Amino acid sequence: MKQQEQFSSRLGFILSAAGAAIGLGAIWKFPYIAGENGGGAFLLLFLIFTMILGLPLLLAEFSIGRTAQQNAVRSFQIIAPGTKWYLIGILGMISVFVLLSFYSVVGGWIITYFWKMITGQLNGLTEPEYAEIFASTIANPAISLGAQLFFMIITIIVITRGVQNGIEQANKIMMPALAILFIILVIRSVTLDGASAGFSFLFYPDFSKVTAHTVLDAMGQSFFTLSLGVSAMITYSSYLPKDQNMPKSAVSIVAMNIMVVLLAGLVIFPAVFAFGMEPDAGPTLLFNVLPTIFSQMPAGMLFFAVFLIVFLFATLTSAFSMLEIIVAVLSRGNKRKRKQWAWIIGFAIFLFGIPSSLSFGLLSDVSLFGKSWFDLADYMVSNVFMPTGALLISIFISFKMKKSALYEEIKSGSNLRFSVFQAWFFLIRYIVPVLIILVMLDVIKG
Ligand code: PFF
Repeated sequence: MKQQEQFSSRLGFILSAAGAAIGLGAIWKFPYIAGENGGGAFLLLFLIFTMILGLPLLLAEFSIGRTAQQNAVRSFQIIAPGTKWYLIGILGMISVFVLLSFYSVVGGWIITYFWKMITGQLNGLTEPEYAEIFASTIANPAISLGAQLFFMIITIIVITRGVQNGIEQANKIMMPALAILFIILVIRSVTLDGASAGFSFLFYPDFSKVTAHTVLDAMGQSFFTLSLGVSAMITYSSYLPKDQNMPKSAVSIVAMNIMVVLLAGLVIFPAVFAFGMEPDAGPTLLFNVLPTIFSQMPAGMLFFAVFLIVFLFATLTSAFSMLEIIVAVLSRGNKRKRKQWAWIIGFAIFLFGIPSSLSFGLLSDVSLFGKSWFDLADYMVSNVFMPTGALLISIFISFKMKKSALYEEIKSGSNLRFSVFQAWFFLIRYIVPVLIILVMLDVIKG
């Protein structure tokens, strides 16, 4: 078997895996889904799911990936030869195909906004004008599709070269930059007049608004932000050397993710309430609120430009990890094939994403099962494919992998106590699958 490239350091791995995880999920999706689901109660549910399901599942995917040191499909074939468990990897490939098809639409929005910003089209407007300009821009099919294509081409080019080259280094600058920019933004947002209503919205849980759908949305959101259930983390940890501390890496990644989610919430909601906007505006929420906050800061437009670059970077690194999952399986370490598959699959994803892009313009009146194509794609991935993948992974690891071998794998590079391992194993074997099934059944029943 070919030896794969590996990460150069633990920090390199953590930042790359965190960079792959932190993206639109925490920054763009969390605020608008929380906004639609009443705020505080949603945040609480999200945090609970992230701790009880997300963290154990992240370590589970790491263990599979580093045990097998292979791509999403081969990993399952190596651990359970002659069985059908590798279908988990195929489900992961299908999931990220659909996921990247709408993710790239939002990636395109960031690029469009950046363009408008540097060409001075966003100077000195008021909040309703920003919202109007944004809506009319994304409704224009040429702009929206062009930007989406541009986003996909960057993703494809990076993947043809292999994930680690350069990204590991860039992450070391971009991730801290993201945190610093967010902290500056939080300070501006929470000191706006009328910001306190946003605090109560985000931190005061109002359970009267919680339905089975809210619970499923919160679970899907925690899988989405940690990239779980689609074998992304299996693929990344297959490049992880055996002397690296996996439990510590998992905890750091979860902690960074939660931090970004909280920061994003603290930027958006105080501003939404201070500006008298509606928190349930949907997918465009972030794009309507941000420029207004920046316009109320000294050198705001400069900050906004820097923010958009860092935001685009965070989005791209997540997009790379999605395309990487598929390309790693299809090219099996062959450099020439990597190039071909990256272009073929990348372009197919763009084509599949066209209706998502048009959901905000030409196809805005078309609805399938009561949702736009864009919303339906997101719903299928976050609330159906990811929980199903996560469920199967938890069953696979509990019943198809030897407990002693798992302990050895996780202990390699860490000094994890057996009791902590036992607690993790209990969670992954009993709590994770049962909870996922209960949440999904509750929605089907309702
Ligand atoms: N975790 C990413 C985000 O929050 O934006 C989304 C994601 C990336 C999901 C890669 C799944 C994946 F394989």
